[in-house]
Amino acid sequence: MIRESEYKSRRDTLGNKLSNNSVGVLFAAEAKTRSNDTEYPYRQNSNFYYLTGFKEDNSALVLVKSKKGLKTLLFVQSKDKKAELWNGKRLGEKKAKERFLVDEVHSIATLQTKLRELLENKKTLYYDFALEYPKVKMLKKESQKLFAQKNIASLIGSMRLIKSKAEIELIKKAIEITKEAHHGAMQFTKCDKYEYALQAHIEYIFKSNGAYNDAYTSIVACGNSANTLHYIKNDKILQKNELVLIDAGCEYDYYASDITRTIPVSGKFTAPQKELYSMVLDVQKKVIKKIKPHAKRSKLQSYAEKLLTKGMVDLGILRGNPKKLIQKKKHKKYFPHGIGHWMGLDVHDEAPYKYPNGKEIPLQEGMVLTIEPAIYCDKKDKTIPEKYRGIGIRIEDNILVTSSGYENLSKKIRKEVVDIEK
Ligand code: GLY
Ligand code: MN
Ligand code: MN
Repeated sequence: MIRESEYKSRRDTLGNKLSNNSVGVLFAAEAKTRSNDTEYPYRQNSNFYYLTGFKEDNSALVLVKSKKGLKTLLFVQSKDKKAELWNGKRLGEKKAKERFLVDEVHSIATLQTKLRELLENKKTLYYDFALEYPKVKMLKKESQKLFAQKNIASLIGSMRLIKSKAEIELIKKAIEITKEAHHGAMQFTKCDKYEYALQAHIEYIFKSNGAYNDAYTSIVACGNSANTLHYIKNDKILQKNELVLIDAGCEYDYYASDITRTIPVSGKFTAPQKELYSMVLDVQKKVIKKIKPHAKRSKLQSYAEKLLTKGMVDLGILRGNPKKLIQKKKHKKYFPHGIGHWMGLDVHDEAPYKYPNGKEIPLQEGMVLTIEPAIYCDKKDKTIPEKYRGIGIRIEDNILVTSSGYENLSKKIRKEVVDIEK
């Protein structure tokens, strides 16, 4: 659980980054209509949540920075019996003031008027440039005459890079539940089942263990479908002699996990599947071992590419000198994506990879990233040995950077051939 004092301290840290005479505005995510009178499940905007821990829609946080210091104002939906009958209870201004360590709480209905007042004589407005909510449009209109507009998301992103103890606990809890789901999937997998039935089984385990949401739509990809990187249709039938790639992770109290395992439908790897799998697993382990403070993600990427290319040459997928093949980017066809990404409130956590001067941000204690090498052999690729065609393998773990190296937070999720087959 994240305490109110931690949210307050995040707002204070952000306040210190704002220039004098400025206003920063963060909005709750908009509720989205799916079709007539039905809505998508609501999920709070991560930056707004990071600074408030508040899960209601139609809310906003305003930070006012002046010589006197920082003033924080939270705007929430007022109590409204009729609206609450349809859409659920609201906290309301009074309870919000009791709960949140902010200076003022107001009704969201007063936001525009209040902003007009607060923006008077200010120099800079900070807001999230990526959002296109109607409220953002209103804000832009109200602030046209301001001197400067800056993106508040990049300031928050650099704070989100390093996870607090409480955040790490939530990520660990998410991974613990995801472990149960992947192990459940290993037992449940059987030919003639639909991929989406396997997906449902995984998500049932998430929810049964206290994870309200998945962190992203699960990928359950049998055989050649695994070669589509973000395959989320999950509508094919599991075939006996194929592998199924499962990229699924729950979100626990807003914190993500992101795990991929690739397992044989029959329970036993065929010889070619095992050759490819063992190669990717070996690369994954070697890359993880390189993680420590000051190491660079770009170096992990090139190391993974080097190892994978060598592996592909050994298996006859690529032919030639590994160094030259890499120079010509020949390996990209089989490993086209990054070795990993930051993970936190979002599965692809909204945090920077570079400093504003363009230099890469090295790994530091408290960062969490995924390591996910892979190999994708399309069934139509006639240049590779026939026995490998139609196989896609990715193995993904979630790693915490520690003061002396790393902790593989998902090490208990089976990935050795013998353990999976068991
Ligand atoms: N689950 C998406 C990814 O691995 O990046
Ligand atoms: Mn990932
Ligand atoms: Mn993933």
